[in-house]
Amino acid sequence: MTRADMQAHPTPRRIGGRTALAGVIGWPVAHSRSPLMHNFWLAQYGIDGAYVPLPVRPGAFDVAVRGLQAAGFRGTNVTIPHKEAAFRIVDRLDRSARRSGSVNTLVFAPDGAIEGYSTDGDGFVANVEAHGIAVTGGRALLLGAGGAARAIAASLLDRGVAVTIANRTAARAHELADAMRADAEAGAMVDVAPWDGLGTVLPGCGMLVNTTSVGMHGGPPGDLPVDLALATPALVVCDIVYVPRQTALLRTAAARGLRCVDGLGMLIHQARLGFRKWFGTDPVIGPEVEALLDADLRGEES
Ligand SMILES: NC(=O)c1ccc[n+]([C@@H]2O[C@H](COP(=O)([O-])OP(=O)(O)OC[C@H]3O[C@@H](n4cnc5c(N)ncnc54)[C@H](OP(=O)(O)O)[C@@H]3O)[C@@H](O)[C@H]2O)c1
Repeated sequence: MTRADMQAHPTPRRIGGRTALAGVIGWPVAHSRSPLMHNFWLAQYGIDGAYVPLPVRPGAFDVAVRGLQAAGFRGTNVTIPHKEAAFRIVDRLDRSARRSGSVNTLVFAPDGAIEGYSTDGDGFVANVEAHGIAVTGGRALLLGAGGAARAIAASLLDRGVAVTIANRTAARAHELADAMRADAEAGAMVDVAPWDGLGTVLPGCGMLVNTTSVGMHGGPPGDLPVDLALATPALVVCDIVYVPRQTALLRTAAARGLRCVDGLGMLIHQARLGFRKWFGTDPVIGPEVEALLDADLRGEES
């Protein structure tokens, strides 16, 4: 076949009756990098599968999920604004989801049950560990008390890391601390510090984690109330914002010679469980998928 013939008759991607289907439900969802990531892994492993964005309006979540399940999907990721609705619809909640109070991964089990998982916390920890940093013991200062903070706090506490929470809205920090304390295993290893009083807290911490949207491209203006001059040289500075990868916090930390972990790896690691459950292969997280997402995200920053 000549080049002209191929252009006239391109080979279609084969989607058949056995193709395993999954996707990401959100509103909006067009910005999601999950399709790029999962379809990369599907191609890398030669798996007969497809992963699609699923724009679902608020209020239409339940009917969409039941429909996808009835249509033979293996499951979905769930993003804003549906994570709490996903928590409510599941028949079986994984411990990670119970602790996080939300679900970002649905699995349609063969027995007809809908299983719910929260993978953000373990994705965060796996990414830090992938940087050669042990996540065990010590104290972490967590900035923020939103959905991501809750998942990360639970995973850190599970690994024996004490957590100090500071949030612009103090009441939400206390709510999060109370939710964590309610879990017997977390015990009293969680406390709250005032947003404007972190100068005495930071020197006692081995890890600082920004889980707020401060620093995000298009996010709220302003600075985080931490003075890295007060940190010990051993402090690990993590930012879960991934657009841009090098936030102002991470730039300042790097200039001080502190170890830094950006948010892109968390995005990749949190995707792993869903891929394994839906497509039956545990994807190895290599530099290729990171480079692919990095290039794509740079387009958004410019
Ligand atoms: N890397 C990843 O895989 C990953 C995964 C999940 C989320 N993220 C990122 O993490 C960030 C938070 O996500 P989320 O789902 O937890 O959001 P969320 O539930 O809406 O929480 C937002 C948090 O940011 C704080 N915040 C917002 N504006 C602020 C400001 N101007 N000054 C100080 N604090 C402010 C909020 O504080 P108040 O309570 O005072 O409003 C709250 O603690 C987003 O940038 C998101 O993209 C990354």
